[in-house]
Amino acid sequence: MTTSQSPGPQLSPRTDTRPDTRPDTQPGDLAVQATGLVKTFGGHRAVDGVDLEVRRGEVFGVLGPNGAGKTTTLSMLATLLPIDGGEARILGVDVRREPHRVRQLIGLTGQYASVDERLTATENLRLFGRLLGMSRREARSRAVDLLERFGLQEAADRPLSGFSGGMRRRLDLAASLLSRPPLIFLDEPTTGLDPRTRGQMWDTIRELVASGCTVLLTTQYLDEADQLADRIAVIDHGRKVAEGTPEELKAAVGSSTLQVRLTDPARTQEAAGLVAGATGQAPTVTPEAGALNVPLAQADAAADVLIALRAAGVSIASATVAQPTLDEVFLTLTGAPTGAAATDQHENGEVA
Ligand SMILES: Nc1ncnc2c1ncn2[C@@H]1O[C@H](COP(=O)(O)OP(=O)(O)OP(=O)(O)O)[C@@H](O)[C@H]1O
Ligand SMILES: [Mg+2]
Repeated sequence: MTTSQSPGPQLSPRTDTRPDTRPDTQPGDLAVQATGLVKTFGGHRAVDGVDLEVRRGEVFGVLGPNGAGKTTTLSMLATLLPIDGGEARILGVDVRREPHRVRQLIGLTGQYASVDERLTATENLRLFGRLLGMSRREARSRAVDLLERFGLQEAADRPLSGFSGGMRRRLDLAASLLSRPPLIFLDEPTTGLDPRTRGQMWDTIRELVASGCTVLLTTQYLDEADQLADRIAVIDHGRKVAEGTPEELKAAVGSSTLQVRLTDPARTQEAAGLVAGATGQAPTVTPEAGALNVPLAQADAAADVLIALRAAGVSIASATVAQPTLDEVFLTLTGAPTGAAATDQHENGEVA
């Protein structure tokens, strides 16, 4: 696999050999078309001129740290907050001029479950169905279908107050699908979920897309965007700082690192020489721990390094390939760490 060796925030030229999945510029083909979106809170521009184009049938990820402006962007597109500047169309419908039509096209799952605690799961879904104008019978049958689809049958008759975070999240997503919307907004669908529930949520999202939905989701996790999204926009401080496929974003941060720990720390310098011979690049070493950090242009270069060490009889205690983290993506793309990582800026400084 070859990727571009020219990292940087300009990710629009495609660098891999997959079919071109960029959206057409035909407005009718776009599920979301936003230009120059602005939201100001008391003089602070929480969203500061964001352009987004989401094609029908794709999963588009908006990736960014706390406070980046993800929820605010989604809220404007979903008609929950007035747009202060710029324009947005949802499936060709102007959000400012025809908000009521836009509401019929979208399903919105909030960052926090927005259902009634005292009611049971079934009652909640039936209530939402009735609010959407369904008949009693239709609301009941949709509720049964959705609870089954989200694995919530057993909890169907229990009040929400006893639900776990993962169950709430699934019910919230089920509620947003009652009206079978063509476009679904998911605001941090897996934040706070355990790994198994997170995997189930990913499967559900993939099923939605396979059934023809378009999904716009926000996340703080590169791995989540990587697993789910066809394309990603990275936002920070209300601005889009990069856009591309997951492969393009990872290529921009120089791919992964191989972390090797030797059984005998005394051989660290010798090992560093072998690694440099195999990769053409000197690794970062911590001799007292027998540790080497090897930047990899391609993940499969890890095998070359390990083979070189073994051929020289250097014994390895452990070896791990680490993916770039969101912080590293941010460092590379913006030259600054994310807000959350600002305090350990100096320790992270060598990453880029
Ligand atoms: N109703 C509001 N009034 C004032 N400021 C707000 C309001 N909503 C959001 N903000 C501010 O706008 C900025 C963007 O917030 P937003 O909630 O969109 O971020 P986010 O990317 O969704 O973050 P998180 O990952 O924490 O959910 C933040 O600085 C936030 O404090
Ligand atoms: Mg948010």
